[in-house]
Amino acid sequence: MNLDELNQIKTIALQAATAAQTTEEIEAVRIEYLSRKGRLPLLMAELKNVPAEEKPLFGKAVNELKKELTECIQARQSEAAPKTQQPLFDCSQPGQWQSLGTRHPITQITERITSIFQTLGFTVADGPDIETVFNNFDALNTPADHPSRDEQDTFYLNSGELLRCHTSPVQIRYMKENKPPIRIISPGRCYRRDTSDATHSANFHQIEGLYIDEEVSLADLKATLNHFARELMGPKAEIRFRPHYFPFTEPSVEVDIKHDKLGWIEVLGAGLVDPNVFINVGYDPACCSGFAFGMGIERIAMILFGINDIRHLYENDQRFLAQF
Ligand code: DAH
Repeated sequence: MNLDELNQIKTIALQAATAAQTTEEIEAVRIEYLSRKGRLPLLMAELKNVPAEEKPLFGKAVNELKKELTECIQARQSEAAPKTQQPLFDCSQPGQWQSLGTRHPITQITERITSIFQTLGFTVADGPDIETVFNNFDALNTPADHPSRDEQDTFYLNSGELLRCHTSPVQIRYMKENKPPIRIISPGRCYRRDTSDATHSANFHQIEGLYIDEEVSLADLKATLNHFARELMGPKAEIRFRPHYFPFTEPSVEVDIKHDKLGWIEVLGAGLVDPNVFINVGYDPACCSGFAFGMGIERIAMILFGINDIRHLYENDQRFLAQF
């Protein structure tokens, strides 16, 4: 026995494996060559009759043949195996239930408030979290010494910009780009340097509203917010205005809504747009007037859902979130 003869056997064996069609035929080839008394073990036994200088090569070649033939036969067997039939789909079996997530309470309240104003013709306007000092403070008529400008209260960035501390700068952006009449509602994230506790978070959400036309009055504001309060808290809800101060509105009010169980609760700030704000965006205050309002979403979510700690809203605990 020598290497040439071995190569002939190899060719014949591989041809036999390739030619075999049925699983039985393929199995027969396997038994003929690879079984314990098959041809390959016999070839190994031949090793002793091989000339000494060919021995290492011969042994290696037999091992290679064994490997190649085994792989070939396995591949042929899986090709020839009858394809297992897919089980029939049984539509009488109960389905596999995938549990659905819920929308976050902040998202739910944001959508609810937004849609109340959308039915009144307001459209959603957006603004960036990183704002200019001008849009966040100056254009909103906030005096240079106003406490909210303090570094203790607002996050300033190295770029000279800041993280907006309210959604009111969206008013400025929108007015600069559009002419009256304007009816917008702007939900979004806000940032303040507050220490986190049950009612404060450095990161929270507000919704801003702005309405500008000719001869808009406090009565328009009150009617609009009255409608809003009833849609939000039920047909018996009432609102009341308390005089207040905001730099960007004159007059300014704080608005309480009467909740059927909790009584009067402070819900938002509002007022008639200050003429200085109109001047800052290039409007003529003699030709237009309007109202604006802003409210904290967390606060409303906490009231409506009976949540007693704002931090629950940010912890992403399934046991909490699954309740809404
Ligand atoms: N920006 C105010 C705040 O963060 C809320 C606010 C009050 C917005 C009165 C307004 C407004 O548009 O007219 O506390």
